[in-house]
Amino acid sequence: MAQLWGGRFTKETNAAVKSFNDSLAFDSRLYYEDITGSMAHAAMLGRQGIISQEEADRIRSGLRGILMDIEKGELVFEDGYEDIHSFVEAHLIERIGDAGKKLHTGRSRNDQVALDMRMYVRKQTEAVRNELISLLRTILRLMEENTDTFMPGFTHMQKAQPVTLAHHLGAYFEMFKRDVQRIGDCRERLNLCPLGAGALAGTTYPLDRNFTALELGFRGPTLNSMDSVSDRDYVIEFLSDLSLVMMHLSRFSEEMILWNSNEYRFVEMDDAYSTGSSIMPQKKNPDICELVRGKTGRVYGALMSLLTTMKGIPLAYNKDMQEDKEPAFDAIDNTLACISLFNGMLGTLTFHKDVMEKSAVRGFTNATDAADYLVLKGIPFRDAHGIIGRLVLYCIEQGKGIEELGLEELRQFSEAFDSDIYDAVSLKTCVDKRLTIGGPAAAAMEDVIRQEKEWLASVGSI
Ligand code: ARG
Repeated sequence: MAQLWGGRFTKETNAAVKSFNDSLAFDSRLYYEDITGSMAHAAMLGRQGIISQEEADRIRSGLRGILMDIEKGELVFEDGYEDIHSFVEAHLIERIGDAGKKLHTGRSRNDQVALDMRMYVRKQTEAVRNELISLLRTILRLMEENTDTFMPGFTHMQKAQPVTLAHHLGAYFEMFKRDVQRIGDCRERLNLCPLGAGALAGTTYPLDRNFTALELGFRGPTLNSMDSVSDRDYVIEFLSDLSLVMMHLSRFSEEMILWNSNEYRFVEMDDAYSTGSSIMPQKKNPDICELVRGKTGRVYGALMSLLTTMKGIPLAYNKDMQEDKEPAFDAIDNTLACISLFNGMLGTLTFHKDVMEKSAVRGFTNATDAADYLVLKGIPFRDAHGIIGRLVLYCIEQGKGIEELGLEELRQFSEAFDSDIYDAVSLKTCVDKRLTIGGPAAAAMEDVIRQEKEWLASVGSI
């Protein structure tokens, strides 16, 4: 008998209703959480004298056997069971007989699924966090190697001021660092145990909720039984964290696609991380980045889906909540894959440093510095801005950079120009002088890199 209920029914469930209602096909992935949650519940029932110690022990060893058999592939999730909870309980009863029928004492599937999902999401916060930490390690290595790799910094997709590759990558370091912190906060907030909330109103049995909570690694029990069975905030919060991770990965992907284009040629992707075209033999496509950018939509979709599912649900448990699982699982799987593949792609990327540097020289990225030079010679900034603007226009007409003009030519725009202008507008000077905290100068970057290293060493795994 695969069904947990039926006493008050006189007819079989309609076959289409059954398959519409069943969730085993997707909630079977909660088997580990379901079984370990049940083991803690059984231990507590035994300790509290709600069932005998011997029954508790038999239940626990029966559950351990089921867990082992699932992991060995000897027990498979065959059809016919409503959900993972029914599957495990039915197999337990089949294996140990009447004692198995006592497992569900003082419990409902409502607090059971709330527990399973929380434990699963908690585990996945750790998995995503670890993937992000490994991506951050790759980024930090590239930063250390590139504090003097000059490149143009862009605003409005136009060359703006010179920066370094370390500095550009450092922006992504900050984004993913915030993601790690956010996911840590999410984990901390969700780490309360709903087991013992029953169907919605607790139970008349003398459950020890503190015991099960600690046994399962939670900070303590949740404090309102109705909220405990109907709260899916933590799933939504995690999906929102994942959406931000994907947004960051998508921006990074977009840049790598541009940088890998024939026009930019800032980078070249490793053969192992690119794909070819079936018709155009010359093609080497940045598919990983495009897929990461594309999958961002589906992770946002999961967030929207669950927000919408939850928006009108009255207290307490309603079956609508079963709809949390498929989008959440899909979003988690895809985000994990995206971080890991992007990390592999990034770690094997070749940076064409010469092309980057040339691009920084050719786009008047030193124009602000030329204006600042005039300011140092006593010209008010607004006037200096105008002078350099006219100078740039002249350079465009001549097809030259500021640094390529002769001193006499420069002096036609301002008497303040002297021979020290050439050093003042060299790429190296432009970058080296940007020493503000968080700026691109190698000295400023080295300090940041040191701080990030310390932070990375301190986060470790949860
Ligand atoms: N499959 C259900 C879910 O995912 C489990 C809880 C079922 N509870 C119930 N009373 N039908 O939400």
